[in-house]
Amino acid sequence: MSTHFRMTRHWLAVGSMIMISVIGCSSKSDNSTADGSSGENDKPVIGFVQTGSEGDWRKAHTVSVREAAEAAGYELRFADGQAKQENQIKALSSFVAQGVDGIILAPLVETGWDNVLEKAQKRNIPVLILDRQVDVKDDSLFVTYIGADTYNEGRLAAEWLIEKTGGKAKVVELQGTPGASPTINRYNGFRDVIGEESGIEIIASQSGDFRRSKGKEVMEAFLKKHGDEIEVVYAHNDDMAIGAIQAIEDAGKKPGDDIILVSIDGVRGAFEAMVEGKLNCTVECNPLQGPMAFEAMDKILSGDIGDMPKKQMIKDEVYERENAKEVIDSRKY
Ligand code: AHR
Repeated sequence: MSTHFRMTRHWLAVGSMIMISVIGCSSKSDNSTADGSSGENDKPVIGFVQTGSEGDWRKAHTVSVREAAEAAGYELRFADGQAKQENQIKALSSFVAQGVDGIILAPLVETGWDNVLEKAQKRNIPVLILDRQVDVKDDSLFVTYIGADTYNEGRLAAEWLIEKTGGKAKVVELQGTPGASPTINRYNGFRDVIGEESGIEIIASQSGDFRRSKGKEVMEAFLKKHGDEIEVVYAHNDDMAIGAIQAIEDAGKKPGDDIILVSIDGVRGAFEAMVEGKLNCTVECNPLQGPMAFEAMDKILSGDIGDMPKKQMIKDEVYERENAKEVIDSRKY
């Protein structure tokens, strides 16, 4: 185990900031490989448990974490959950057994993490929750959450839609993966703004699992059932909106004009669709979370978490097709 992390674990065991100031004076370069927890070239080892590779946003997220790990001088061990929580739990347990210095978890769904996080806590391995949130009985099971405010994203989408339609429209909703925190939050945030007073009516709502192919499939079914009644598509991510655009075109309609589309993420494909006039609005959800994650990990492993908030939210912007052309070249993902 690295000298550096032996100290951090000691702190985690005694839970005392005073201990840190007494002993927490080493840095990442102090690592030794005594118990195998430090990786090649004595770099501290971080196990990263990713949800899978469901779309463009996720690809950008994985690249951001990998690049930030390298830039910050860590060895990253990567586990792809392949869209299954059981795979993620197995990977997490395996990282605990390996005695890694820290774990970054992007949880597929919100619940069901208590037992495996307890295992990490028992071994004094700090866990940072990235991108999606967890719902656990005891918040001390993780050090901090870094990611977007996905509830606010749902609110922003609804505010934009009310402004665009004057508060009157029939909407079909493409939800994300069931049980995932952005699905729950984007569902609730949108509804909380629409409220009961609004003339915005959600006539159908179904999961497209954050995937382009599923978004297309569900939109085809919506069009079959509701046809011309559909005025708006609210998609929990851009990939599903892009799938829906294909379904709308196949049905002989003009996406962006015959049917308004608002989605979330701000990936390049969404900007291209907006420039082509086929998508009306995207609410940004920034996947470039790697640098923030490793800045936090540096502090965690050196015991410097005094003022670290339990939730660190990244700010989102709203983009419309009217201004897409001006900003598309500056987009980084
Ligand atoms: O958790 C973030 C969400 O996951 C993104 O909105 C989506 O594209 C991804 O699958």
